Amino acid sequence: MAEQQELLTVATAMLDKAYNSHFHVGAAAVGASGKIYGGCNIENASFGATNCAERTAIFSGIAAGETHFTALLVTGNTDGPIAPCGICRQVIAEFFDADAPIYLTNQKGAFTATTVAAILPGAFTDLN
Ligand code: THU
Repeated sequence: MAEQQELLTVATAMLDKAYNSHFHVGAAAVGASGKIYGGCNIENASFGATNCAERTAIFSGIAAGETHFTALLVTGNTDGPIAPCGICRQVIAEFFDADAPIYLTNQKGAFTATTVAAILPGAFTDLN
């Protein structure tokens, strides 16, 4: 529970960093080293170039030398637990074990624990 609370704290702090968005999203990923990486969504005038908070967190960890992650939390100002997009689900499947915990939360106390396999059944992982 301590790790989950720490992840929520890091992800919540990331909400303020969202770039150019009316819809702020924060994420926190735990690298295999144990270090936590925060991420925010980063929008772009060319909409397709937008990067979600989950991928920002994961890619920040990769850039810092991580190659694998053990848990991820995402949060937003949604009514219910926020749902990661399909592209993020595929990126998550690349860097987490199938049974790794994924925590979907919001800023009102919603907290759903799921797994990589549950959010992307049948993932394409041939590169692993
Ligand atoms: N977004 C995320 O960062 N993560 C999610 O789980 C859902 C969507 C971002 C993408 C875009 O910047 C905004 O939220 C939706 O318009």
